[in-house]
This record gives sequence, structure tokens and C-alpha cells, in this order.
Amino acid sequence: MSKLSHAQWSSKMAFILAATGSAVGLGNIWRFSYMVGDSGGAAFVLVYLICVAVIGLPILVAEWLIGRRGQKNPINAMAELARERGQPGAWMLVGFSGVLAAFLILSFYSVIGGWSLSYTLSSVTGAFSGQDADGIGAIFGGLLSNPGLLLLWHTAFMALVVWIVARGVTKGLESAVRTLMPALFILLLLLVGYGMTTGHFGEALAFMFSPDWSALDGGVVLAAMGQAFFTLSLGMGIMMAYGSYLGEDVNLIGTARTVIILDTVVALIAGMAIFPIVFANGLSPGEGPGLIFVTLPLAFGNMGGGMIIGLMFFLLLTFAALTSAISLLEPVVELMEERTPLSRVAATLVSAVAVWALGIAALLSFNVWDVPVLFGLNVFDLLDTFTSKILLPLTGLGAVVFVAWCLDRTSVEKELGIGGTAATLWHASARFIAPVGVVIVFITGLI
Ligand code: PHE
Repeated sequence: MSKLSHAQWSSKMAFILAATGSAVGLGNIWRFSYMVGDSGGAAFVLVYLICVAVIGLPILVAEWLIGRRGQKNPINAMAELARERGQPGAWMLVGFSGVLAAFLILSFYSVIGGWSLSYTLSSVTGAFSGQDADGIGAIFGGLLSNPGLLLLWHTAFMALVVWIVARGVTKGLESAVRTLMPALFILLLLLVGYGMTTGHFGEALAFMFSPDWSALDGGVVLAAMGQAFFTLSLGMGIMMAYGSYLGEDVNLIGTARTVIILDTVVALIAGMAIFPIVFANGLSPGEGPGLIFVTLPLAFGNMGGGMIIGLMFFLLLTFAALTSAISLLEPVVELMEERTPLSRVAATLVSAVAVWALGIAALLSFNVWDVPVLFGLNVFDLLDTFTSKILLPLTGLGAVVFVAWCLDRTSVEKELGIGGTAATLWHASARFIAPVGVVIVFITGLI
């Protein structure tokens, strides 16, 4: 029997599903593919894989461990564990920067979720049928240049998030993740099959897996690490919050491995589905954030049963985005609930409206307000860059350093169920490899 008193996941499986639901989202399909394209392909992919394994795994485990021990929201959990260990209360800042990152990320995440919703509708109306690359590009360009339309879809997406979070339908989500995630995966495999028929599959594989090391610089490495944090939902307090509902019988390292493998496989498969279509149609892989929205509809518009497949794809993508967005709103709501007299529903509404308002600035970056506001970046790029390159690495660094250096070493080994070589490996990566990796990448990326 567990000694823990507060709510817990209904089963180990439920926890894995929820964590996977948070991890697998737009980051795996939309963001991964455009980052690969922007950063020149395979060199980025390989650095990303290294970051996920060497930095992502210890940080994911550290965040869960903090949550499970603290049994509270990220800020209070950090504050309490620090106090217990006689450490400065400033450790609480790790929790704060996580919640701030969640707030900022959701504002632009919802805009992209809105694109996905809009494309779900366009798939059924047959807008993509028989279109060539120019036609599809014009549809996307039309969406981006229309602030009213972007606002409508961004609002619709946020409304769905609020509806789900306010109702707290955890149970429903669990079962939905269980069926819809595999469905998304199968559809991606189908698209890889389609990619093989384009005659450009080999070119796509070479682009993704045969590195041109000359393309590698500090910026690419920082981008790859940012992507590793983003895609695993690290550095946002989310995994800490999820860990606080975790029973003592769950094996953290084994579970982290499962979640990371699932998440990474989805991203790689998505890349193998998208790049053959990019090359077959003479599109540029460096298209930017619009990449999947100008490539996949081309395939859907020109393949047998493309209307149904397109509809299913964008529906499932929207769903994957929703399960991630929910996990992003949760820490913000939790914080408001605790620090203000607001009820859960009121806290959900207030934080969602704030996120939504910031999202408006992000969506205007694609049309009327596409101007540099800071460091030569528009609001959308600024939000993405500031969170993935600064806030997430710093929060994740704080979490892993705290677990590795401030908690009692023997009790951590016991909790992780490791000893001997496994324990040495764990300490080496949590104490040195992961933190030093984050710091080096962080600094080289900034200079
Ligand atoms: N991991 C999610 C994705 O890949 C995005 C996300 C980031 C979700 C941060 C929650 C927190 O799309």
C-alpha cells in the first residue's frame, strides 16, 4: 500500500498515457518537422536524439521525483523540499519560471492549434482536392493574412481547452489518449507509406539521417536542445505536477524511457511522412512554422481517399494538441487557485483569457504586426525563442541540479530502485552530464 494521501493516477498505465498525452503534441509533428527543415536536417536530428537521451531522461526523472516527493504544485513542492533539506527558499523560482513558461507557450500553441482546427474543416469541404503546391500555399497564406480568421480559430481552440480543464474530465482524457494516440500513429505510418510512393523517400531519409556536419553550429545545438525540452514537456512544471499524483510503486526511470521512446518515434515517423512530400513537390524544407500546413494538404488533395485521411489527420492532430494544451494550462490554473481566492472554474477562465489575449499578439505577428519588437524577432518568434531557448533549459537545469546535488543521495537511489553501476551512471548523468550539457549549449547558443 502506498503511504501517499492525496489523489493518484488510477493506474500506472493512466500515468503513462497522461504523460505521453502531454509530450506528444504539435511539437512532434508541426514543430519538429519545421525545426529539422530550418536547421538543415540530419545534424539537427542527431543532436536532438542525443539531447533527448542524455539530457531529457535525467531531467524528466528529476521532475517526476520532485513532484512525487513534494506532493504539491511545482512552486510549493520546490519550496518545501528545499526547506526540508535546509536549502535557500529561492529554489522556488524553478517552479515559478516553469509556470511562466507554460503560460507563454500556451499563448502561441493555441494559435497553431487553431490552424489545425481550421484545416480539419478545410479537409471536409474539399478545399485541398486537386490543388498544386501554389494552390495549397495560397490557402495557407490566406489564413495567415487574415487576423479575424486566425482569431476565430485561436478562440475556438482556447474555448475547447477551457471547457475540458474546467470540467476536469481526467477519466475521459485517459481513455481518449488510449485510443486516439495509436490512431494518430497509424495514420502517420500510412502517410509514410504514401511518402514511399512519391519517389523522393530516399532523399527524405538522407536529409533526415545523413548529416552535413558543416551545418552544425551553436545555434543548431541550442535549437535541438530547445526542441528536446519542448517535445518532452520539460522545464514547465508539468511533469512535476504529474509526478505529484504518482504512486510509490512506479519505476521512474523505466517509465521515462517508455515515454521518451514513444515521443521520439512519433516525431521521426512524422518527419518521414512529411519530407518526401516536401521534396516531391519542390517545396523548401526551410519553410518555417507553416511547413506541415503547406505540405500535408498537398498529399491529401492528391491521393485516393485523401479527404477522409486529411480529415482524420487534422482531427487527431488537434486532439494531440488539446491534450498538450490542457497540461499547459493546468499549472497556471493551479497557481491562481492557490494564490488568489478564485474558484477552479474562475481561475481557469481568468488564466485562459490572459493566455488568449497574449495569443492575439502572437497571431498578429503573421500579418499586420509582423515587425521586430525585440532582438529582431516578432512576438510569435520571441515567445517561442524565449521559452524554448531560455526558460525551459533554466527550469530543467534547476530541477536536475536540485535532485542530484541537494537531495539525499541514498534516498534518491532507493527511490529510483538503482544500485551499483546503474547508480553510478545515474549520478554521473544527473550531477554532471545533463547540467553541464545544458549550460554549455545554453552559453554557446547565446554568444
Ligand atoms: N510536449 C508538447 C508537444 O510536443 C508541447 C508541450 C510543451 C506540452 C510544454 C506541454 C508543455 O507538443
